[in-house]
Amino acid sequence: MKYIPEPFKIKVVEPLRMTTREDRLAAIQRAHYNGFALRAEDVYIDLQTDSGTGAMSHTQWAGIMLGDESYSGARSYFHLMDSARGLFNYGYIQPVHQGRAAEKVVFPALTKPGQYWISNTFFDTTRGHVGLAGGRPIDLVCPEGLDTASYADFKGNADVAAMRAFIAEHGVENIAGIVMTITNNTVGGQPVSVANMREVRQLADEYGLLLIIDAARFAENAMFVKQREAEFKNASLKDITRETFALGDLFTMSAKKDAIVNMGGLIGVRDDEELVQKIQANVIPFEGYLTYGGLAGRDLEALAIGLEEGLDESYLRYRIGQSEYLAARFEEDGIPFQNPVGGHGVFIDAGRLLPHIPWQQFPGHALAIELYLEAGIRACDIGSLLMDKDPVTGQPQQAPAEFTRLAIPRRVYTQAHLDVVADALAAVKQRADQVPGYEIAWEPKVLRHFTAHLRPVKV
Ligand code: F0G
Repeated sequence: MKYIPEPFKIKVVEPLRMTTREDRLAAIQRAHYNGFALRAEDVYIDLQTDSGTGAMSHTQWAGIMLGDESYSGARSYFHLMDSARGLFNYGYIQPVHQGRAAEKVVFPALTKPGQYWISNTFFDTTRGHVGLAGGRPIDLVCPEGLDTASYADFKGNADVAAMRAFIAEHGVENIAGIVMTITNNTVGGQPVSVANMREVRQLADEYGLLLIIDAARFAENAMFVKQREAEFKNASLKDITRETFALGDLFTMSAKKDAIVNMGGLIGVRDDEELVQKIQANVIPFEGYLTYGGLAGRDLEALAIGLEEGLDESYLRYRIGQSEYLAARFEEDGIPFQNPVGGHGVFIDAGRLLPHIPWQQFPGHALAIELYLEAGIRACDIGSLLMDKDPVTGQPQQAPAEFTRLAIPRRVYTQAHLDVVADALAAVKQRADQVPGYEIAWEPKVLRHFTAHLRPVKV
């Protein structure tokens, strides 16, 4: 597999500190075996997330100096409006400080207590905000989505038949709406086809339901659509984006991903004045005045520029190429992963790589810790550690798959860095049967993976 060369050159560098295995063992012990508690300086290659960790371009940095810090009506706000309205073709665009801020504003305005929200799969903060608003989140991904061993073009798709059956069973009055996450982060950054979006739109229309797009990785999704959905082979990514967003009523977006900024988010409403008013009523107390929404003027400026850069085809071909390059190396070494790879990284199937570790001892987390000890690589569990205990029964819940996510920051690491990752994983595979599982020494009640203390257990 040929590595697709970077369509940029490097102007600013950030030195990395090299550590020894002893340094790393001491650091992870201090962190109670939780990668979130590490000091980032003790990490060599940080694949914990692709969120807010991208490298901005010289144009974005120049935009930072042009940022207008007026409290209301800033020039940078209008620049962002031009950029976002042109791209998504939505009547109303609201900046907010990040994706979960958009969720906090939107879900309480649209949820009656006890109502279900159904989705191709909720991201964990979205699931959290549905719950906080009194709603019940239900994941209905297509069956291929969770079969890591076999290839499918659009593993992020919703199971529309299952959605229809769910609505019929529970009654439309008990459904608040539908959320489509593009790309579908939790099942591996897997794309959603426009055909699937059209079917979900049809379902929403049949029942008069609202369709929200969780659009954090809309650009990577558009690129996959161009590559894999015949109808869009010759379409521009802008046209694919417009076509996709025309099928939603509203979107929430963490701009920290595909818009390549370190902080920012958006809400969009296609065409519904009543909805806009509900959103505005929540934005002012939570996020600030409508024209800045929790962001500095310079952030609005960088975001306006990043929205355009993030949709550049040569950049996206290189970006998705990085995940594909890593995956090709894993394939050579017999490392199981969610196949095909997603746009924002590779999800290792730790359940299959470490079959001696039961799900209650978190194989995805165990592999992440081992990669840190091996080479200073920080990854994270997308598996049963991420699942909080059942709020009603207090029992641990098993995730549908035990993934270790290697999320690739945008425009940050080189081919040589990716080779370090592949070599480290190959070395861990050699001694896979000696990798310990983990038990929880202390945990909070919700979102436990961020702050839990763990310790290794001999298996
Ligand atoms: N929706 C999706 C699909 C996400 O992946 C994220 C964040 C959010 C919403 C929330 O956005 O972080 O800006 O508040 N995902 C990050 C990740 C944190 O690592 O996957 P946020």
